[in-house]
Amino acid sequence: MPGARLEIRDLKKSFLHGGQVIEVLKGIDLTVEPGEMVAVIGASGVGKSTLLHVLGTLDTPSSGTLHFDGQEVGRLSPRALAGFRNRSIGFVFQFHHLLPEFTAAENVALPAMIGGQTRAGALATATNLLEQVGLSHRLTHRPGELSGGEQQRVALARALVTEPRLLLADEPTGNLDSVTGAEMHALFVALNEQRGMTMIVVTHNADLAQRMPRRIRMVDGRLQDVAGAAA
Ligand SMILES: Nc1ncnc2c1ncn2[C@@H]1O[C@H](COP(=O)(O)OP(=O)(O)OP(=O)(O)O)[C@@H](O)[C@H]1O
Ligand SMILES: [Mg+2]
Repeated sequence: MPGARLEIRDLKKSFLHGGQVIEVLKGIDLTVEPGEMVAVIGASGVGKSTLLHVLGTLDTPSSGTLHFDGQEVGRLSPRALAGFRNRSIGFVFQFHHLLPEFTAAENVALPAMIGGQTRAGALATATNLLEQVGLSHRLTHRPGELSGGEQQRVALARALVTEPRLLLADEPTGNLDSVTGAEMHALFVALNEQRGMTMIVVTHNADLAQRMPRRIRMVDGRLQDVAGAAA
C-alpha cells in the first residue's frame, strides 16, 4: 500500500501551564506527498515533538486541520481514531517505550495483536521484521537484555508491524553512536524505498538530515523548507 498524503493547515497548539498560555505551534502549513521522506530540524524546545504528537493524533491541536489522504482526522470519534492510529501510523520515539517484561518478538508483535491478528501470525511477522533489522539472534531477549541500539531497532520493527502508511520518528538515532546511528538511518531510507511509506523524522543530527530528500526547519512555532538537500 502506498504511503499516506498529509495536509496540515494553520495548525496551532498551545499549552496551559501555571495559568499561562504557551503557544508552541503558531500556524503550521505543510503538505507531505505519499512516500515522501522529510527531516524536521530545529532548536531544542521549538516544538518538534509536539508537532509529531499532533500529526500522530496522540495529541489534539488547539486549532487547524490535519487531513490524512483527504480525510480530516479531527472529525473521527475517539474509538475510530484509535483504530485509525493503530492501523495507519507507526511511531518510533527517542526512548523506545518497550515493555520490559516482554521479549523483543512479543514487543514487536503486540500492536498487530491489538489490531486483531492472531498471536501466532503476529509473532511470525515480528520475527520477520526483527530479521530485517538484524536481530534474528535476539528474539527472546527482554529490553533490559538488549543494547540501546538494539532496543531502538526493536522499536523500529514494532512501528512497522502493522504496515503503517505513515511513520513518525522522534530522534530515532538520538542516543546511538555515530556508526549505529548511520546504520539506523540507512535502514529508514531502505524501508522508505522498499515500502513507499511516508516518513517524518525529527533529528538533531545535521549529517543525517543532510542526506534526507526534504528538510524542514522549525523556527518560532512555524516551518520553513530548507533548500538544497544533498543527494
Ligand atoms: N504538556 C505540556 N505543557 C506545557 N508545556 C509543554 C508541554 N509539552 C511541551 N511543552 C513546551 O513546549 C515546547 C516545545 O516542546 P517540544 O517537546 O515539542 O520541543 P522539541 O522541539 O521536541 O525539543 P527537543 O529538541 O528538546 O526534543 C517546550 O518549551 C516545552 O516546554
Ligand atoms: Mg523533542
